[in-house]
Amino acid sequence: MGGALSLAVWRDLLRRCAKNRPLAGNLVTAMNDNLHQLRCIGCGARISGGEARPDFRCAECGELFEVEYPGWAKRGGQSAPNHDRPNPGALKWLWRERRCSSEELDHSGVWRFRELLPILESFGNAVTLREGNTPLYRLKRAAKALGIDQLYAKHQGMNPTGSFKDTGMTAALSVAKERGFEWVACASTGNTSAAMAAYAARAGLKSLVLIPDGKIAWGKLSQAMDYGAVTCQLKADFDGCLTLLTEIVNEAPIYLLNSVNPYRLEGQKTPAFEIAEAFDWNVPDHLIVPGGNLGNSSALGKGFRELHELGLTARMPKISVIQAVGANPLVRSFTDHNAERMEPVEAHTRATAIRIGNPASWRKAARAIQETGGWCLDVSEAEIAIAKTEIGAEGLGCEPASAVTLAGLKKLRAAGRIASGETVVLVLTGHTLKDADYTIDFHRGTLLTAEESVGREAEIAGLQRNARVVDATPAAVLAALKDSVG
Ligand code: F0G
Repeated sequence: MGGALSLAVWRDLLRRCAKNRPLAGNLVTAMNDNLHQLRCIGCGARISGGEARPDFRCAECGELFEVEYPGWAKRGGQSAPNHDRPNPGALKWLWRERRCSSEELDHSGVWRFRELLPILESFGNAVTLREGNTPLYRLKRAAKALGIDQLYAKHQGMNPTGSFKDTGMTAALSVAKERGFEWVACASTGNTSAAMAAYAARAGLKSLVLIPDGKIAWGKLSQAMDYGAVTCQLKADFDGCLTLLTEIVNEAPIYLLNSVNPYRLEGQKTPAFEIAEAFDWNVPDHLIVPGGNLGNSSALGKGFRELHELGLTARMPKISVIQAVGANPLVRSFTDHNAERMEPVEAHTRATAIRIGNPASWRKAARAIQETGGWCLDVSEAEIAIAKTEIGAEGLGCEPASAVTLAGLKKLRAAGRIASGETVVLVLTGHTLKDADYTIDFHRGTLLTAEESVGREAEIAGLQRNARVVDATPAAVLAALKDSVG
């Protein structure tokens, strides 16, 4: 359906929005708050949310679930209009109106779109830190260097705990709280644990974090401690931590908050709505996302797919996923097995956030790439470090894992896969302060090995801005200034 609203309905809508009252169910959707079910992406089995196993794997085939909303399905013809299907025009209007609302929930860039994530019995149970509503910046210098007219960065590092994980955490942790869990847990390369610990603290829940010993940025570890999580550093990599945690949640009443939890992805799909809204519902041509455990690319794919299926947008952007060369199982899956199967790798990269060799959501991410005509490729340690510095030089900054997007864009552009007139959005996933050591090491020249820098020495030297030790005199500072401008 998705047709125009009748005049009477519009009047009612306007009146209620003006008074900032909740909308009656069937104006925008005919839903109560919770109208979802879970569908296995492997065998297609459907279960209710409450029937999911603690590890969120299908009891039949072991695959992951995704959230689906049966009420959105198109039903045949005008004779059977589907009143459960959201009305695109009304939704766009409502979401915009909510920006002026004083309701806490409307201040969240996730729950502002709550009609498209009806996963709670009551939205009153949502735990929010006013996540989302992140900025979309023009990247003017990079655009010029690459000969692209329209290049943007959606900076998810501007979320409350400094990464895109907040959008997923508000959704899944709210489910945990609503279902009465006292403990939540995740395995993490750092950002998930920071987000989980913060949201758990807000909700009054206890949280358990499993992280790989020594392979996590200090900024992230300090957040988990600050927010009061029980943090265990394991002699294992991320994949090992997740396997162990799966065993634990199968035995203890602890709610698993990794991105195998399909509710995480419901929150993480909402940046797609923000991006579409920012472009007045004309989606960009191309979206470029870092790939680690592959939940984020899957979620953004789902978000854009739903907008398209519900008639809010006319198409989907191409979605490309970029991995680090040393942690590239999805790239290999595409090259060697046409994305029909994936073989785990032993992961190595200084972009520790995406140091993942056995990504759980690879099938979902592969689908997003394939159905949109995007690409999956990998970038080297030097390419990541250079791209990160260039994003810093735009006055934005990001963490190393986020910089794979610009590094990947350069490769796509060089291969002629992105035309100069196309609109491109890079998803920057984490804040630059998450991993300050990486940045300092780069500028000091201690980050990359000679082998990694080979052929790029001059480019790297031109980007390095190491702090100088200078005498405390005006003459010495002015001399340093003169020196720096050559
Ligand atoms: N960028 C950052 C900054 C991340 O923290 C992560 C994942 C990714 C990209 C990759 O996203 O896993 O959805 O493909 N970090 C996880 C964590 C694994 O534990 O914080 P993905």
